[in-house]
Parts: sequence; C-alpha cells; structure tokens
Amino acid sequence: MSILVVFWNRMKKNCTSASSAGLSRIAFLIQNSILDTLLPLVEALELTNFKLKISNAQRGYNKITNHINPMQNIVVLTGAGISAESGINTFRDANGLWEGHDVMEVASPQGWRNNPELVLDFYNKRRSQLHTVTPNKAHLDLVALEDKFNVSIITQNVDDLHERAGSNNVIHLHGELLKVRSQFDEQLVLDWKHDLILGDHCEHNSQLRPHIVWFGEAVPMMDLAIEITEQADILMIIGTSMQVYPAAGLLQYARHQTPVYFIDPNPAISPTEHLSILSEKATTGVAKVVEELLG
Ligand code: APR
Repeated sequence: MSILVVFWNRMKKNCTSASSAGLSRIAFLIQNSILDTLLPLVEALELTNFKLKISNAQRGYNKITNHINPMQNIVVLTGAGISAESGINTFRDANGLWEGHDVMEVASPQGWRNNPELVLDFYNKRRSQLHTVTPNKAHLDLVALEDKFNVSIITQNVDDLHERAGSNNVIHLHGELLKVRSQFDEQLVLDWKHDLILGDHCEHNSQLRPHIVWFGEAVPMMDLAIEITEQADILMIIGTSMQVYPAAGLLQYARHQTPVYFIDPNPAISPTEHLSILSEKATTGVAKVVEELLG
C-alpha cells in the first residue's frame, strides 16, 4: 500500500489566489491509480516539498488504549462506508455510486464543462436521496464520544448525516451536497436543498455549481484537517478504501504513537503496534471502540 501526500509550500507560479487566501499548502484530489503518471509530472514541474510516504503493516484487533484520559482529542476520518448502512451507496463497492458513469464524467471540471446537465442531474439525485435517509448507529455512537472527549470529524462524505446525528465539529474535505457555489466567486457558497439546474445563477449572474471537490481540484480544507490530525490523541478511520488523496494521507500526520482504530469490513491497510483493525461494518465496529473509549 503506498500512501502519497501531495503538496508543497508554495507553488512556483500562478498562485496568487492560493497565497492571498493564506494557504501555505495546497493539495489536490487524486486517485491512487494515477500515482504512476503523477510522479514524473511532479519531477517535470519541479514542485517543492513534495512528499511521498509508504506505510506497511499487519492485521489484528488489539485494545490499544489502556489509559484513556478525559478530554483528549479524538479525530475521526470517515468515508462512504459509514453511511452505507443508512442506505447510501459507497463509491467503489460493486453497486457503487459511479455505476453507469465514468468518474471523470460526473466528478471533474472537464465533465462539468462537457456536460453540465449530466453533472447537475447526478448530484440532484444524490441530494434528493439525502432526504430519504437518516443517520445510523455509527453516526450516533460517535456523538456519544463528545461527553468525554474533544471530537473532530473529518469526513470525505458529502452527505450531512454526521451533522444530523448531532456531531458538533464536522469538516467536509470533499464538499457538501446541500451547498452550491458560484462559478464566478468560489467563496460564495449557498445552502441548497432542492434541484440545481442550468440558469440558477448567483448574485453575480454566474451559474451555480455543486459545492463538491472534483478530481483535479484543490482540497481547501486539507490544511485544517492536517492540523487537527496532528493534535489527535486517538485517531479513528471508518469506512474508507483509502484510494483518494490527499485524504488517505492524513493517517501519516498522526503523531507516531497515537492509537489508531481502522474500522472497515474490507480494510485497505494492515495493523501495526499502534494501529488496530476492526474488519467489520461501521455500526458494530464503532460501537465496540466507543464502548472501550467511554469505559
Ligand atoms: N461499514 C464500514 N465500511 C464499509 C461498509 C460498512 N457498512 N460498507 C462498505 N464499507 C467500506 C468498503 O469496504 C470500502 O473500503 O467503505 C469503503 C468505501 O470506499 P469508497 O467507496 O472508495 O469510498 P471513500 O473511501 O469514502 O471514497 C473516497 O473518493 O470518489 C471519491 O470524493 C469521493 O469522498 C469520496 C472519495
């Protein structure tokens, strides 16, 4: 398993918007499968401070947090798997969300330029499905941790199930289905509960687009996610295939001895001394870890 983290302190050129936004690092959404093509590109572009980290480990679930102090920082990274038992398809399982669609067709700036109606229809369906699902026990159990811990949830999911469950600190790395933004001003973000269609404009008369981070786009919340992960006393990773970067690289920012719980019926990584795997569904796996942590 290779874990790649792509960013650099400052892009060499054409970076006025990023630097004026105060960003010291920029990360872009990529799939694991494009690493082979990406590496020569990094070399060719002479990107600075490029990082590549490899993680190797073995399997098995051990209780790894014998001495838990109250109000420690628990950081939870979630992926599509935590919402699977609420009825939302994951991306890469057999009947996944992308079925019938090339991922670049519906989740890339090129796809948006080529066929905006298809992209809008795709996200309209996802948004409308949200109104038919509810948080499951895994979402709810994470809320219970807030009684004793500072809990930060970093989710790759664009649904609002963590918020509806009652979690107070949720960061959406890949955007939110219930928001849209202006094409003219990406800081202009609006709440949006119904269908978005061509002709829905912002106050600058520019087309609104889904507030989703598409492949190839910057991940603006990544800096914050890294800072939070660096402060983690305990890290939980739930229901993610660890195929999409930079999110999958967050694990590398946990301090060396931070206990990590990885909950997924098909875990993409292996255990180490401080990383424990629960090869099961989120509803049962999260319950076990929460019970252990709450004592
Ligand atoms: N409980 C926990 N995990 C589950 C469950 C379940 N009930 N069912 C499936 N899973 C696991 C799968 O084993 C898989 O490892 O959820 C994971 C889902 O993986 P993906 O579909 O790849 O979803 P995710 O890792 O969240 O994808 C990351 O990729 O397409 C982009 O931006 C999109 O945020 C998404 C990102």
